[in-house]
Amino acid sequence: MPDRFDSPAALAAALAALGCVAADAEAALLWARAASTDELADLVARRGEGVPLEVLLGYADFGGVRVAVTPGVFVPRPRSELLARVAVDAARARPRPVVADVCCGSGALAAVVASTLSQARVVASDVEPAAVACAAANGAAYGFEVVAGDLCAGLPDDLRGQVDVLVANVPHVPTAELPLMPRDTRSHEPALAHDGGDDGLAVLRRLAEQAAAWLAPEGVLLVEVADRQVPAATSSLFERGFAVAPEHDREERTTVLVGRAQRSSASTSASAPER
Ligand SMILES: C[S@@+](CC[C@H](N)C(=O)[O-])C[C@H]1O[C@@H](n2cnc3c(N)ncnc32)[C@H](O)[C@@H]1O
Repeated sequence: MPDRFDSPAALAAALAALGCVAADAEAALLWARAASTDELADLVARRGEGVPLEVLLGYADFGGVRVAVTPGVFVPRPRSELLARVAVDAARARPRPVVADVCCGSGALAAVVASTLSQARVVASDVEPAAVACAAANGAAYGFEVVAGDLCAGLPDDLRGQVDVLVANVPHVPTAELPLMPRDTRSHEPALAHDGGDDGLAVLRRLAEQAAAWLAPEGVLLVEVADRQVPAATSSLFERGFAVAPEHDREERTTVLVGRAQRSSASTSASAPER
């Protein structure tokens, strides 16, 4: 492979040879990103090592915002734009919504909500130091707070019982399937960002156990799952006191589960899990 590229077309050919599926689009972005031929050669070499395009660019475009993405941080995926849209719609209905983005990674979901709803208080949280640092940079740009901690543990105490929308793209890949993920993902994103335990739902179940204490009386818990996880995830939320309604994106084959905490006598009307 050449170590110099004299046109975007030559760059695209090199990227295609490296196995990049969207070589033309990647070539255009890397061509614009590099300030010199040396830098371009370095970017191509790192792309060949599986460094995600967004890490090389330093950003990802997600749900209408451009968020910083740094090495070792989960790259926001287009499929999660459904979760961002559902979160914005749920928060929009409240006059001064409080939104918590737990397992925030770069803070992409928080950034979409904060940039769309200027009256919202948005707090994002993650347990990984690299994610917290990346989210903090995005929080400064888009106007949301960032804290560190395991699931809800780091959220400010004054948010107990006050969160209108608790949104979370928790790790949800079954442990046995981690080795089957694409190379870029396996080698450049932490396993912690994906590992959902034996059935992929271990983190979701833990979050569901904590969520009710943080949600406002009419608050909602929003979680993303793969379509095939919907029945088991719905049952898990139902068993922990949530009535559940799904929102689907058929093209992306992803589902957002909208959970509403059932209060005592209302629990009999909770939606039964899908079978
Ligand atoms: C699938 S990524 C989602 C990131 C971001 N919300 C997004 O959609 O782009 C999951 C994130 O959860 C974080 N995480 C994993 N376990 C966690 C835990 N116990 N408490 C808080 N964050 C956790 C990971 O560090 C990772 O950033």
